[in-house]
Amino acid sequence: MHTILSISDLSKTYASGFRALKSIDLDVRRGEIFALLGPNGAGKTTLISIICGIVNPSTGSVLVDGHDIIRDYRAARSMIGLVPQELTTDAFATVWAAVSFSRGLFGKRANPAHIEKVLRALSLWDKKDNKIITLSGGMKRRLLIAKALSHEPQILFLDEPTAGVDVELRRDMWQLVRGLRDTGVTIILTTHYIDEAEEMADRVGVISKGQLILVEDKSELMRKLGRKQLTLQLQQPLGTVPPELSDYDLKLSSDGSELTYTYGNQDGRIGIVELLKDLGAAGIQFKDLRTTQRSLEDIFVSLVSDRQ
Ligand SMILES: Nc1ncnc2c1ncn2[C@@H]1O[C@H](COP(=O)(O)OP(=O)(O)O)[C@@H](O)[C@H]1O
Ligand SMILES: [Mg+2]
Repeated sequence: MHTILSISDLSKTYASGFRALKSIDLDVRRGEIFALLGPNGAGKTTLISIICGIVNPSTGSVLVDGHDIIRDYRAARSMIGLVPQELTTDAFATVWAAVSFSRGLFGKRANPAHIEKVLRALSLWDKKDNKIITLSGGMKRRLLIAKALSHEPQILFLDEPTAGVDVELRRDMWQLVRGLRDTGVTIILTTHYIDEAEEMADRVGVISKGQLILVEDKSELMRKLGRKQLTLQLQQPLGTVPPELSDYDLKLSSDGSELTYTYGNQDGRIGIVELLKDLGAAGIQFKDLRTTQRSLEDIFVSLVSDRQ
């Protein structure tokens, strides 16, 4: 595993005194899609802005493929493409001119073949001579990506790439981002949509109030978060969980009247059938049952609110 981005003890206190980031540590691997998930105001844009040299950190350091973003700013920055959250771009330039100009900003020699490849990949080739002002919202977003890719960066930051876009465009964006990853670009995206993190990411970091409270492989996170519970109301209260049922993850309520079984997504159905059989064999009868599944939304909210 090769670490392409290494963040340590990064904090930001704005001039107002507001602490937007609190000692962030994070390593991002080359070639992964990393989703930074967090509610509005969590500090996502601040973090990206520091990495891209737009905002100064208060403490800590960031290395981009070994280049320090402050001491070695040009080398670090030239490896990064940034698709900003706000759609700001000059209205009267043509698509071709805007993307070529972005490349020039990084001191890279003109490379029309690369610009053409990027515009084609983003379905903007037939718009290359159009003025930006004439583009639709979706095209403008794709243009921002084209600009960010103009200098052949190895890491692409997408700050809320689908905030406020319609469902169809979201799907297109996801497709596009996967395609970019397949070409070897490391992708870091921020989002406040859980389904977007779930759909896109190899790993997910959850940020809340300036703190990175969790970093996990997506599949592992989904396994943990996708947990379901079966609760049985017992005919007769139990004093303890019988030892013959100790293989199951069972919890007895304090009054002994309810037994709760927690199970994951994979081992669900068979687990329940066997549990009910084993309960019968142990002579435990129940009068009612219910299942609950915490949605990702619930879990996210509880993770974030646990910190308040
Ligand atoms: N220039 C600034 N001065 C003071 N506070 C700021 C500034 N920029 C952002 N903040 C505050 O920092 C917090 C994090 O903002 P931001 O990084 O934009 O969050 P996110 O992108 O996760 O929504 C917010 O409370 C925001 O109001
Ligand atoms: Mg933001």
